[in-house]
Amino acid sequence: MNLSHNRIDVMHGVNLDQLGRRDPAQYGSFTLSELERRITEMGSSLGLATSFFHTNHEGQFVEHLHRLTEIADGVVLNPGAWTHYSYAIRDALELAGVPAVEIHISDVDSREQWRRHSVIAELCIGRVSGKGTEGYREALELLRAELSSEAVR
Ligand code: DQA
Repeated sequence: MNLSHNRIDVMHGVNLDQLGRRDPAQYGSFTLSELERRITEMGSSLGLATSFFHTNHEGQFVEHLHRLTEIADGVVLNPGAWTHYSYAIRDALELAGVPAVEIHISDVDSREQWRRHSVIAELCIGRVSGKGTEGYREALELLRAELSSEAVR
């Protein structure tokens, strides 16, 4: 299927640039650039064009969400620890107005209690957690299905 709206921005939040140095039992041993390479391949096999954004600064993450509608038709976002408490990111995601999937590399529901809460979940069409790099394929598939159904509406 050819999608005219196929641009997916993948946003990585705080500390995700440290992949490769973080607890391998939770995050594996791949680096952020290895992860992005895999996501690019997964995206192109699904007919999706992927772009990437990372920052450790909450305001920059917010401002990227403000601009998102100009550059993307959907977003996969892993805000890292911000997921659990940043109402600023929650409000900016609402403003972005594109379909969003929340993703976590580790299984946030089987870790500390505070990681179980997400302030962005209610705005997302789906949530993937604990599936490592492969989880990104699932997130892209969810967005692809959403963009395809938007196209026939
Ligand atoms: C994370 C889970 C968060 O709880 C944590 O703060 C992260 C990464 C994940 O991808 O598993 O930094 O979002």
